[in-house]
Amino acid sequence: MWLSKSGIVTVVILTVFYLTLLPFLAHAFELITVGLSAFPWRQTYLFAADQSVGNAAMMLHITAGSVLVALVPLQMVGRIRLRNISFHRGIGSLLVVLALTTGLAGMVYIPLRGTIGGPLMSAAFFIYGFCLFTAALMLARMVFIGNRQGHWEWALRLFWLALGSWLYRVHYTLWYLLTGGLWSEPDFSGSFDLIQNFAFYLPYLVAVQFWIVAHRDAHQGTLPKRLGAW
Ligand code: HEM
Repeated sequence: MWLSKSGIVTVVILTVFYLTLLPFLAHAFELITVGLSAFPWRQTYLFAADQSVGNAAMMLHITAGSVLVALVPLQMVGRIRLRNISFHRGIGSLLVVLALTTGLAGMVYIPLRGTIGGPLMSAAFFIYGFCLFTAALMLARMVFIGNRQGHWEWALRLFWLALGSWLYRVHYTLWYLLTGGLWSEPDFSGSFDLIQNFAFYLPYLVAVQFWIVAHRDAHQGTLPKRLGAW
């Protein structure tokens, strides 16, 4: 079957996304393998010898987060969503659970272990985790009460928050390609690093909010029964 113009654009966007996501997923998979080894703290600072809760939280975080970021774009493809509502509901339920797990595990890890960038990075990432967790919870609530507009609004917020980990790497990659790493330090204390603590999710949340306000009217009403009964 031939693809329409918008179908071709979707395929191109998804191809670019997955190609750029691949190195990150490979890195995450390597960390999971390290986490399963006998002495993971000898290989990365993310794990510590006397911190079984922190270590478990990091393992859970990386595993759930990787599946989340890999699956979330599929939920936005209209062709899949409109033609296969059961798939949309199944993946949607899974994504909510993954987002809750990723956010919660991150929020458990941060007070126990801190972050490589210090207090500001810890605070910024904790807020990010809280936003992701809240968006997943609110999206589930909107589906349960059959609120179509609320479902649309929280789904958009969750989508951009779930992409945050990928956007974080994309920002760094582009910045290093363009400037060679100006204002960025190995301990994440450079001006670029400090801005980047928030820049991978906050501006996107603000932009999404503007988008929501501008397009709100088109999404009012209740969800179809099958989706509302999720
Ligand atoms: C959305 C999908 C997410 C994915 C795929 C993901 C994945 C990862 C990976 C692979 C690492 C290890 C990075 C490294 O090698 O240094 C990591 C670290 C970390 N993540 Fe996430 N993450 C996600 C979301 C979040 C969220 C929502 C939070 C906030 C609660 C968070 C907080 C952290 C923290 C604090 C670290 C350790 C940072 C450090 O000190 O180096 N992540 N994450």
